[in-house]
Amino acid sequence: MWKVVVVVAVLGWVTCSFAVTPHVLPPLIETGPEAALIIVPGAYLKGEAYIPLGTQIQLSAVLRLWVVVLGEFLDDLPNPVELPKGIANATAQLRKRGMTSDNIFLAGHSLGGVFVGEYGNSHAHELKGILLLASYITKGNALSQYPIPVLTISGDLDGLTRITRIADTFQELKGDVAHNVSAMYRTPVVVMPGINHGQFASGTMPPSVLEKDIDPEVNLTTAHIAIARHCNDFMVVTLQQPTSHVTSAQAALTQAYRNTSSIMEPLLQMKTLDENKHLVSGWSVQAQKILAGNVGTTLQVVNTVYDSVDFGSSKPKINKTGQDEVVVDTYTHVDLPSNPLDISTNLDSPLQLEVKMKSRDAIVQAATPGASTVTDSAGSCREINEAATKLAVTSSSLRAQYRYRTRAVRPLVFKNDTNLKTGLEWLPWKLQFTETEHALEVTSASLITPVDFVISSLAGMFYCKLLSPYRAMEWIYVDSLRNHTL
Ligand SMILES: *[C@@H]1O[C@H](CO)[C@@H](O)[C@H](O)[C@H]1NC(C)=O
Ligand SMILES: *[C@@H]1O[C@H](CO)[C@@H](O)[C@H](O)[C@H]1NC(C)=O
Ligand SMILES: *[C@@H]1O[C@H](CO)[C@@H](O)[C@H](O)[C@H]1NC(C)=O
Ligand SMILES: *[C@@H]1O[C@H](CO)[C@@H](O)[C@H](O)[C@H]1NC(C)=O
Ligand SMILES: *[C@@H]1O[C@H](CO)[C@@H](O)[C@H](O)[C@H]1NC(C)=O
Ligand SMILES: *[C@@H]1O[C@H](CO)[C@@H](O)[C@H](O)[C@H]1NC(C)=O
Repeated sequence: MWKVVVVVAVLGWVTCSFAVTPHVLPPLIETGPEAALIIVPGAYLKGEAYIPLGTQIQLSAVLRLWVVVLGEFLDDLPNPVELPKGIANATAQLRKRGMTSDNIFLAGHSLGGVFVGEYGNSHAHELKGILLLASYITKGNALSQYPIPVLTISGDLDGLTRITRIADTFQELKGDVAHNVSAMYRTPVVVMPGINHGQFASGTMPPSVLEKDIDPEVNLTTAHIAIARHCNDFMVVTLQQPTSHVTSAQAALTQAYRNTSSIMEPLLQMKTLDENKHLVSGWSVQAQKILAGNVGTTLQVVNTVYDSVDFGSSKPKINKTGQDEVVVDTYTHVDLPSNPLDISTNLDSPLQLEVKMKSRDAIVQAATPGASTVTDSAGSCREINEAATKLAVTSSSLRAQYRYRTRAVRPLVFKNDTNLKTGLEWLPWKLQFTETEHALEVTSASLITPVDFVISSLAGMFYCKLLSPYRAMEWIYVDSLRNHTL
């Protein structure tokens, strides 16, 4: 996206001698309500690359649909400087060719969708709706506040616009639908199985797409038919025309919502487990229980999620609350990735969970004072990370599990913990991810103190930099399947 900033800067002083060229595809049918769809390409893609999809949308249309593909952006990069002129020119060409209706929709693929989202927001009166193909409305702009209808549509094998990023938008829609079911038709979010990023276009993809995308599981024709069907349903429902098809198009969008919901559910569940701010849940609770092993007493874990400042000074505690009950207070910092520009290729899940727990020995000693403790090194962060991955695999959809089993190029593998000696070393240390040709190697760092540690307030600690189960799941769904390392 930085590249675009450069282009915009250049356009600021070069007099525009280039022009975005509209390529008009006239309607294939002569009857029915008229509408037009203008398509903005993704980065480094020519307008022609969208003619097959545009034609398929017309073939599936019940509207008398014009399609215009915009091409020849400077450097083949869609940008907000040339876009308005391109759209004005497209509209002028449509009028010249005889289109009389105001039913104009604007679609954008990938980076093109980012600018379409911005354009639609400020030119709502010109458009009936926008279609974001493997793209999305960027964070901070609510779907419910968007002035016109928006379709967000992508494939579940998109290696650039991650399913985990679209899961955030779907989660937002789910919240909107809970208040008003019609959000399902005004701002639908559709994820189609087996389709990748490049399949919205045609021909040879640019290197930027080839190096990141995931091999699809359906051919281009099948992909275009699926995309075309959802785009048409969205336009019919938005226009409420032709009246004979509104009910069936609405039913299809309802079904698409259900299908997408079932694809998204495992991701949303796992995401909640990681980011849960409530006290008695989250992965840290499981982590402490795994570490404690079978201590022969009822173990309750109360986890608190802190920001980095409070986390630094927090210390886990043990309290014997009854004959056979021990309560452990653990502390967690969820290290979320910073992505202020909301770039789709960045990982969406937490970088790590920093968790402060009590050692197995400390728990045994608290439960049975005077008991001889086992060994100060019982358990490991690695063991917990392996359990997180197992949980992520078994919680994934059957389709995702099958893909991970049969197609993963770089599955997750774990290295022994790096055992650190002081909090000063441990705190800034980040969970290590090393991508090799055949694996993603994960290495955690531990900080362990014996129960008889000289500073008693720091005795019996077990600190870990843990793999978030959602990060494991994101790797299972997306990155493990990629042919190339990032
Ligand atoms: C509009 O598009 C036509 C080609 O269809 C091109 O010749 C013309 O220069 C464009 N005009 C502008 C203002 O971009
Ligand atoms: C739901 O949203 C639709 C479309 O935005 C609106 O027309 C309708 O009044 C809303 N219904 C309720 C109950 O808020
Ligand atoms: C694409 O896949 C569909 C469904 O599997 C199949 O019917 C069709 O023949 C395939 N088309 C091409 C061009 O391979
Ligand atoms: C929903 O999923 C089913 C089963 O995979 C499929 O047959 C159907 O076409 C899908 N419908 C929509 C609208 O996506
Ligand atoms: C330990 O538990 C007892 C009894 O429930 C409670 O009164 C006390 O405040 C707890 N202490 C700590 C440090 O949590
Ligand atoms: C990793 O740890 C296990 C036991 O904790 C040990 O047996 C093994 O040798 C270690 N591997 C390496 C490469 O250090």
